[in-house]
Amino acid sequence: MQSIGSVLNDLFTPLSTAEKHCEKHGIDYTEQVFKRFTRGCPQCAAEAEEARKLDEAEKRKLAEREWYQKQIAERIGDSRIPLRFREKTVGGYRVENEQQRYIVERVKAYATEFNDGSHSGRCMTFLGNAGTGKTHLACAIGRHVIRNCNGVARFTSVAEINRLVREAKSFESEYTETDVIEAFGGYDLLIIDEVGVQSGTEAESRALFDVFNERYQNLKPTVLISNLDADGFKAAVGDRIADRVKEDGGEVLVFDWGSSRG
Ligand SMILES: Nc1ncnc2c1ncn2[C@@H]1O[C@H](COP(=O)(O)OP(=O)(O)OP(=O)(O)O)[C@@H](O)[C@H]1O
Ligand SMILES: [Mg+2]
Ligand SMILES: [Zn+2]
Repeated sequence: MQSIGSVLNDLFTPLSTAEKHCEKHGIDYTEQVFKRFTRGCPQCAAEAEEARKLDEAEKRKLAEREWYQKQIAERIGDSRIPLRFREKTVGGYRVENEQQRYIVERVKAYATEFNDGSHSGRCMTFLGNAGTGKTHLACAIGRHVIRNCNGVARFTSVAEINRLVREAKSFESEYTETDVIEAFGGYDLLIIDEVGVQSGTEAESRALFDVFNERYQNLKPTVLISNLDADGFKAAVGDRIADRVKEDGGEVLVFDWGSSRG
């Protein structure tokens, strides 16, 4: 059997050497032929090493970009923004009347507040007729938060909040009511659609208030959407929510023109 010393000797002692000339670099060098590899022109070797490093950096950059895209895709999936509204943008919202022009301007200002991660926490409320693009614009804000601001947005409805809170109260549940409220409290943006659709029970309006208030207290922005007019909205959510949505620059935008659904 060969000793380790002689194995290393075999590997690192050239089997042969030869004087060569590199045409590319115009230099003379000593080529060394080893058992496993050949050492040729030192400048060719340096160039190959440089190319390998560049290639590696390129691959790393690609992997990073892929990872980032995957993160965004996951956050979009987790947002529960309905498929129909995932690609809706503020830019894709047609402006055909003065109210739409005003609303788009206000929505843009609201969305921009997420850019540097320092949103004021004020709310935005969309009230009005079916098919006027309330859900469209709210989801567009959500998309912006996820794609452009590295944030986490969540779309929900009053019905879903009530269902999750109701389920949490069941003794088989693995999470508590407090868990549900805290989870909704954690998102950078929460969109609550279909406010005032069900004339709910006392417990149901409390669940909405608890979720809303958890965010309000922590200065987390919430967008509320309802088909009702201002009076109907106030009656449905109660004075405490109706007052809070207007606090600190919170805006209530009214969509009172005809449907785009045709
Ligand atoms: N101004 C607009 N420009 C482009 N698309 C619009 C506009 N208004 C509405 N839409 C489109 O019309 C459809 C209905 O809009 P959306 O669902 O957002 O209305 P909504 O106000 O939420 O209605 P509802 O109160 O019934 O939920 C969507 O596909 C939306 O993208
Ligand atoms: Mg809607
Ligand atoms: Zn060379």
